[in-house]
Amino acid sequence: MRTNDWYKYMSFYQIWIRSFKDGNGDGIGDLAGVYGKLEYIKSLGVDGIWFSPIYPSPNADFGYDISDYKDIHPDYGTLDDFKKVLNKAHRLGLKVIMDLVINHTSDEHPWFIESRKGKDNPYSDYYIWRDKPNNWESILEGNAWEYDEQRGQYYLHLFAKKQPDLNMDNPKVREEVKSILRFWLDMGVDGFREDVINFISKREGLPDGLPFLPVINGMPHYKDGPHIHEYLGEFRKVCEEYDCFQLGEGPMTTVRSAMNYLTGPTRSLDMMFSFDHMMADCLYTEYVHRPFDLRKYKSALSRWQYALAGKAWNALYIENHDHPRIISRYGSERLRRESGTSLAVSYLFLQGTPFIYQGQEIGMTNIRLKSIDDYVDVSSKTNYHKYNLKDTVERRLKRIHFSSRDSSRTPMQWNSSKYAGFSTHKPWFFVNPNYRRVNVASQEHDADSILNFYRKCLKIRRHSRTLIYGSYKEYFPDDKHIFMYERRLGDICYLVICSFSKFPVRVRIPHEFVGKKAKLVISNYHESSEDGHRIRKAAKAVLSSEVFSNDGMKDAIGKEWFAPYETRVYRFRF
Ligand code: NOJ
Repeated sequence: MRTNDWYKYMSFYQIWIRSFKDGNGDGIGDLAGVYGKLEYIKSLGVDGIWFSPIYPSPNADFGYDISDYKDIHPDYGTLDDFKKVLNKAHRLGLKVIMDLVINHTSDEHPWFIESRKGKDNPYSDYYIWRDKPNNWESILEGNAWEYDEQRGQYYLHLFAKKQPDLNMDNPKVREEVKSILRFWLDMGVDGFREDVINFISKREGLPDGLPFLPVINGMPHYKDGPHIHEYLGEFRKVCEEYDCFQLGEGPMTTVRSAMNYLTGPTRSLDMMFSFDHMMADCLYTEYVHRPFDLRKYKSALSRWQYALAGKAWNALYIENHDHPRIISRYGSERLRRESGTSLAVSYLFLQGTPFIYQGQEIGMTNIRLKSIDDYVDVSSKTNYHKYNLKDTVERRLKRIHFSSRDSSRTPMQWNSSKYAGFSTHKPWFFVNPNYRRVNVASQEHDADSILNFYRKCLKIRRHSRTLIYGSYKEYFPDDKHIFMYERRLGDICYLVICSFSKFPVRVRIPHEFVGKKAKLVISNYHESSEDGHRIRKAAKAVLSSEVFSNDGMKDAIGKEWFAPYETRVYRFRF
């Protein structure tokens, strides 16, 4: 039985192992590398690790195409290596959660190898086979159906061709899932991040989707499908036997449908990753690009904050292995430290459990490779070839620079030595050329670095009941430059202000805070920081005190204007 909701006060660090740290000198990140970096992870102030898939996989989708659910990819080590990491993590007080990918397997999984042999073998119905495909498109690689010569039928793949969808309607498949859960839980893992979990039950008959909607045309027939809650309920029962935690990834989930997973009799998950706030500069898969609109970011976050308040718990993130780097998207590479820290505050102090993706804590940015052939992610390649072919190569490549998932998958930048300290061998993928400037070692001893800023924020959050459990309220939702919200519990109130502007801006402070005494808990501009000082001075020169005078506010919190990407968090006692 679940004994407590330990995940609520926690924050997690996500490891995409292939690019995290190479421990055996072959150019590929591995468990030995992770083992040596656990103290670093702990030093960030997080309480747990989420491992993106580390199982055997042909890597058509870098681990999300699993060929054995109960082993470790030989590139990363062995089950014993994993147990060592798990034990050490636990000794350090870090929980460990695994990625559970059960919507599909690899086409090299023994189940599929058997299933494709014909209609009368025990694995025949493990996958979704049809004589005639419908019109669904896949999310990663063209048409959602692939003809299999051997079986003489089409199989469904909602993602890449090498990721056939499992038939969850088959009770034997669900028993397999339960056995996978038990395998890892018995070993001692603490929970699961469940990949595209809202897609696992498909509508009977697999009807055609809307013909005019690209990529996601079949979604109404496989998202939140007819038996989803029944199946997840079965898995929940297993998880409840252990004190384990379940986090679902819910592409295109609306708050409304999320509530069915997170509350009430169909509750089967503790949290859900929403995608809404990741679409403030694009339309769904980052395929269609738009300029960043802060109001979209804020309204998506607020929608979830308000709807879940007192009923469910948010999973907070702004980066992971599926999205390009956030500074390159929502911030400014030129004002990397300022925008990286403002972005950090914008989400770390919301209600929910924060997740930090490797490299985010040092402000890593997008890579810009010279040719599409240099990219390795299947969706980058698919998108490139789908873009208007009349466009020049440069234009199409520019779109890939904005949108490729490969940008978040470059090797972690540990120091300024060759290969960024990631490996002693040429890494499996390009290192971002900015590694001499942007790396862990150079930020360790800089009090004003993004890295140390993350540490401070996580510490503040971890020690404040108000920031963990307090209520949420947003101010000035229509403001195009400022994200401002409060968190309140009893007589304590935090006022969180983040500028997303490249220029100095005037910030209005809500009436009730004006004239009140407050403590500045954290800010990304310090007189001590050279950069901060320079920008503050520039800002002062631009702003006229006449326009911005507001004595009450000055008394309360000092300055009325905010420098570019400035963020401040105030603590009030009422
Ligand atoms: C979501 C994962 O995060 C992503 O990396 C993957 O491509 C798809 N699901 C398919 O597994």
